[in-house]
Amino acid sequence: MAKHSIKVASVAPKLNKDSAVVVALTEKNSKLAVAENLIALGLTAEHDLGKLGAKNSSDSTTRVPGPNGSVIVLLGGFESGNLDAIRHAGGTIGRNLNEFRQVYFDIALRNEDEAQALLEGYAIGHYNYDSYKTGVKKVVPQGCTLLTKLKIKPATLTRVEILSSAVHDTRNLVSMPANDLYPQSFVTEVNKLVRGAKLTVTVLDEKKLAAGGFGGLVGVGKGSIRPPRLVKLEYKPAGAKFKLALVGKGITYDTGGLSLKPAASMLGMKYDMTGAATVLNAIIAIARLKVKVHTTAYLCLAENMPSGTATRPGDVIKVRNGKTVEVTNTDAEGRLVLADGLALASEAYPDLIVDVATLTGAQRIALGARYAGLMGDESAVNKVLKAAKAAGELAWHMPMPDELRSLMNSDIADMQNAKVGNTAGGMLFGGIFLREFIGKRSANSSQTIDWAHLDIAGPADNDGAGYGYIPKGASGSYVRTLITIAEQSAK
Ligand code: BES
Ligand code: ZN
Ligand code: ZN
Repeated sequence: MAKHSIKVASVAPKLNKDSAVVVALTEKNSKLAVAENLIALGLTAEHDLGKLGAKNSSDSTTRVPGPNGSVIVLLGGFESGNLDAIRHAGGTIGRNLNEFRQVYFDIALRNEDEAQALLEGYAIGHYNYDSYKTGVKKVVPQGCTLLTKLKIKPATLTRVEILSSAVHDTRNLVSMPANDLYPQSFVTEVNKLVRGAKLTVTVLDEKKLAAGGFGGLVGVGKGSIRPPRLVKLEYKPAGAKFKLALVGKGITYDTGGLSLKPAASMLGMKYDMTGAATVLNAIIAIARLKVKVHTTAYLCLAENMPSGTATRPGDVIKVRNGKTVEVTNTDAEGRLVLADGLALASEAYPDLIVDVATLTGAQRIALGARYAGLMGDESAVNKVLKAAKAAGELAWHMPMPDELRSLMNSDIADMQNAKVGNTAGGMLFGGIFLREFIGKRSANSSQTIDWAHLDIAGPADNDGAGYGYIPKGASGSYVRTLITIAEQSAK
């Protein structure tokens, strides 16, 4: 786990061999070192930064010797006025300068928003998952100081700390292997993470789930010797006017069940609880930030295993809202546990439901590894898009075509969970299935609750090299989007 302390100072520091000073390359000083801050650091106009190998492209960090054994880092890709680029530039530094005990940003910023973006990117990017590595740890505790004359509110630094912890804690949970992370141990992790936050936690175990009619969670979980759980977290600040529900898919491992995945597709399925980790850390951050929105998170936790007690293809289960589902494919399990979660969330009549799930391989095929697929009601979708844009996270609005609804028809039950042999529009089918479990706005309303669904099968995991503030592996993406949705709903 990465450790850092973030400060702001207006005067230049005493440098030593443990310090790095980060300066931004701009169009102007990428050609020649004429920027005043570079000269102050000992680089003169004679230095041709091009010949030093410095590039003004994102993710480029060129190191040159600085005063007193320090290192000057020439950071490319910094674009004044572009908060996303600034966040990623900060992340590139956080990700690449692990060996320094002190990092100083000596970069001209226009305003506090830019300062927040730079520090947020740095803090989120300064991350390394080494819980399972023995021997020397790669990341040393690091101090980061922003050198600026701008006035930075303490709340801004607190926000950076809260957001980056939420992202790191999400990555930590997602990276934990499934031999250690299963529904009950997930609950243990929840109890550790919520310490100090004003949240109430309720856990439904397998007995309560069966008694409560949660046939999705029970049906998916019964192939495993490690039984399912549903965790409800509630944050209810005084005076809140908006009620937000967050629902997360928490399959701690997805073998596919009896509709077993081939070996190569199974690897990586410890990531299948990313949705639950995302909504968990979002609600913790929402509480820590004291956002004035009544927020409830539902974590739908189960392990999808094949065994003598597993649900068979063709079995019929009954979900919390009373609807029956023929399980034609036990590998389409996420929608079954979410069906229970969405139905339960609906019972409290929230103003908005957002679910987050690594739901379909089709999402990854359609949109790749950086965009989430976003479906749902128009107003909900617009809220998510607006928040994602502000957070700098990528989501793409996908349709829910009516023609697909009939593919869900089952011969014997209310619906089936997958159309066997028909992979067309797989991501959209997932969204259309989930929609069936969104309840009405009140006991006597005919309108359904505003709902949006984020399929994050692709962006949950960055299987390429790290970039900006995103490391290789668990991305921790969409935690900040959810927090921003809450913040924007408080207005
Ligand atoms: N967890 C998978 C989706 C997934 C695939 C996430 C690849 C991340 C990477 C999900 O439970 C699943 O297996 N979905 C099936 C649905 C199908 C059987 C209708 C899929 O996408 O193949
Ligand atoms: Zn599956
Ligand atoms: Zn799954």
